Amino acid sequence: MANTIDRVLNREWFYSYELPDGRRTATYHGGSLDAIHDTRWSMLESALAGHFHGEFGGLTAIDLACHQGYFAVKLAMAGFSAVSAVDARQNHVDDSRLITEAYSLSNLNVAQSDIFDLDSTIVGQFDVVLMLGLLYHLENPVGALRIARSLCRNCCVIETQVVPGLSGYVDYGSYQFVRPLKGSFGIIDETDETHGPEASITGICLVPSLDALLWTLHKVGFNQVKLIEPPPDAYEQHLHHKRVMVVASV
Ligand SMILES: C[S@@+](CC[C@H](N)C(=O)[O-])C[C@H]1O[C@@H](n2cnc3c(N)ncnc32)[C@H](O)[C@@H]1O
Repeated sequence: MANTIDRVLNREWFYSYELPDGRRTATYHGGSLDAIHDTRWSMLESALAGHFHGEFGGLTAIDLACHQGYFAVKLAMAGFSAVSAVDARQNHVDDSRLITEAYSLSNLNVAQSDIFDLDSTIVGQFDVVLMLGLLYHLENPVGALRIARSLCRNCCVIETQVVPGLSGYVDYGSYQFVRPLKGSFGIIDETDETHGPEASITGICLVPSLDALLWTLHKVGFNQVKLIEPPPDAYEQHLHHKRVMVVASV
């Protein structure tokens, strides 16, 4: 165990982990991103506590695109019975496994997978599906939400960057066939950044407007969709509605 803790502490991480002995991991961003992680955990924790009345025993979860496992570790430590976590990048999976070992968590299992390769008939369904910080890095966000729905037995928490939306009406082939816009997607170019640890793996990113996200969640089969209000001390992006967290229930 001493060897595991040394390996964790002798390097820099994306997340500032407080280890069981109270020491903290150094980050490769000098702490500048700690606030976004703190805000997201505080919003996620209170959303889940409200949804499950503070009782997590017996529940299962999957963290889609877990990076170094921060939110999966939080759920495992909060009392979830079994937590799965996947990421497309093998180095993140290795890091997540190391941190799982550092916390001696027997209820957290990490695997390498592109989320589009997850098949609910093989991996099963989960009470909670987390999709944090992923949707806006994908070229097929609607397909990703379909995957999330297929894996979900109770609720899915999506946290994402959103773009300003277009609204109004479109002459859809003819002025006699006018359709309302349900939202919009903005294209962001990450094609030169796919080497980055937090980036898209394909480089083409379609970022939804809030309307697009809410409408699509209903259309892929979620019955209830609830926008989580950021706390007054939230990270500026959440406070100013540039990033949102939504709980979608089946
Ligand atoms: C911005 S990070 C977010 C990490 C974490 N969920 C969080 O919110 O802190 C995006 C993560 O998505 C992963 N990723 C990108 N595309 C993926 C895909 N198609 N399948 C699985 N993971 C993916 C990246 O490797 C990276 O770990």
